[in-house]
Amino acid sequence: MARDLKNPCLNFLNKNKMSYKYITAEEAASFIQNGQQIAMSGFTPAGALKVIPKALAAKAEAEHAAGRPFKVSLISGASTGDSCDGVLARAKAIDFRTPYQSNADLRAGANAAPNEINFVDMHLSMTPQFMNYGFMGKIDWAIVEAVDVSDNGEILLSTSVGISPTGLKLADKILIELNEYHSKALRGFHDIYETANPPMRREIPIYSAGDRCGSEVVKVDPSKIVGIVRTNLADEVKPFKPTDPITQKIGENVADFLASEMKAGRIPPEFLPIQSGVGNIANAVLGALGENPDIPQFSMYSEVLQDSVIDLIAHGHIKTASATSLTVTPEKIQEIYANPDFFRGKIILRPQEISNSPEVARRIGIISINTAIEVDLEGNVNSSHIMGKNLMNGIGGSGDFTRNAYISIYTTPSVAKNGAISAIVPNVSHCDHTEHSVNIIATEFGVADLRCKTPMQRAEILIEKCAHPDYKELLRDYLKAVSCGHTPQTLAKAFAFHEAFVNEKDMRLAKF
Ligand code: COA
Repeated sequence: MARDLKNPCLNFLNKNKMSYKYITAEEAASFIQNGQQIAMSGFTPAGALKVIPKALAAKAEAEHAAGRPFKVSLISGASTGDSCDGVLARAKAIDFRTPYQSNADLRAGANAAPNEINFVDMHLSMTPQFMNYGFMGKIDWAIVEAVDVSDNGEILLSTSVGISPTGLKLADKILIELNEYHSKALRGFHDIYETANPPMRREIPIYSAGDRCGSEVVKVDPSKIVGIVRTNLADEVKPFKPTDPITQKIGENVADFLASEMKAGRIPPEFLPIQSGVGNIANAVLGALGENPDIPQFSMYSEVLQDSVIDLIAHGHIKTASATSLTVTPEKIQEIYANPDFFRGKIILRPQEISNSPEVARRIGIISINTAIEVDLEGNVNSSHIMGKNLMNGIGGSGDFTRNAYISIYTTPSVAKNGAISAIVPNVSHCDHTEHSVNIIATEFGVADLRCKTPMQRAEILIEKCAHPDYKELLRDYLKAVSCGHTPQTLAKAFAFHEAFVNEKDMRLAKF
């Protein structure tokens, strides 16, 4: 039977008489044993588990109260919601966690000394292949949120794909949260494609952002499905802070830079696909791109689609948007569910190995736009650790895209913590993206184009264009202290800014 895009519910092979066992979240948790490894759905709160982790946390607390150990290892696409990472971290039920998080309690566990949670920060495109290569050991359970499950084991995922196809394939057993909040009209939004392991791997057949190469559902062995827990809950996606003058200016600076690159003939007239990170700055940048009259209609090849993308699709600024996660607020997802035929084909949700594929990013020439915690005078970027030590969230997908972009851009406000921290520092305290991969830095003051510049030239441009006025002279003093060499480096003073903050709570007190 040909697929009927207008009536996606008819497409489920008419096999929705499920023969699976419906169970409670507590029953599901009772199957999971101390020390087991779980591959979970969720990439941001989108598609994350909402009830089984709470029951698992309660089980862990009861086991701990009885004097027995209980911890599990957790792999997901990226971060999840508080109902997953938060409850499990607070219950001290997490032994190992990868590849990304954004939860205050989980972060505290990862930063505790000794580490209470063993957290491994990983490029997101690599997580499924680490699982496939066996580097992560045995996957005992795959637990995924789904919108529909057919008798023959076809699973329609919800608002994210992440690592779910890989987890479902490799796990011994499967549990499903069947979430009735989400519309079955999501059928046709997903494009599930998995790569073979080397030496059998071929190219991923995606030649433009809107290409599809896989299936609408994940197919599993139905006998692996141990039980289904019904839910009816929205994703825990929080609304954005309204754009403020600083994020607005950063957004405008990036949009003006890209428009000028087009005028100079360095970006083709049909434009190139945009990858945009998460958060308030990314939202402001996308808004500014939509408002700039010199930026034509464009596509996205990204990992997360936020509210602003849905508005830009609705207004015709974005043609197609490929990602692994539809991280939108409940209001925005209802807009999509009210008009699924309009959005189907324009929004494509892929496994993160494909959405973040270095191969595809390099081939289609993405323009990557991510947020830095700090940038140094050479152009190295720290995205993940505070003062070289404490994990913030993780590298996420930023490295997947930055290293392979046509143009890689980092945005950041020039200062943090009311001016006590400069985002432009002599040396980054932790390095995620090296000077070799970083092309452009944008703050509210301007844009530093680091392409084809020497390390010393980059230092001058960053101070001139991007640093906050409070820090320009200090950064110049640092440069004066640099003796001859290829890079702006003097070992004795490399961390003078960070030491001033740690010791005196203000980088402006750094001395050279
Ligand atoms: N030193 C110390 N703290 C800093 C800092 C610095 N140099 N720069 C920023 N911060 C603090 C801010 O003050 C803020 O603290 P608060 O939560 O107490 O208010 C916090 O870090 C977040 O900064 P904010 O300016 O609000 O930016 P954000 O929410 O956009 O987050 C990152 C910025 C870098 C943490 C975030 O983008 C991230 O995790 N990136 C890595 C993953 C990634 O790029 N994913 C996208 C790939 S598709």
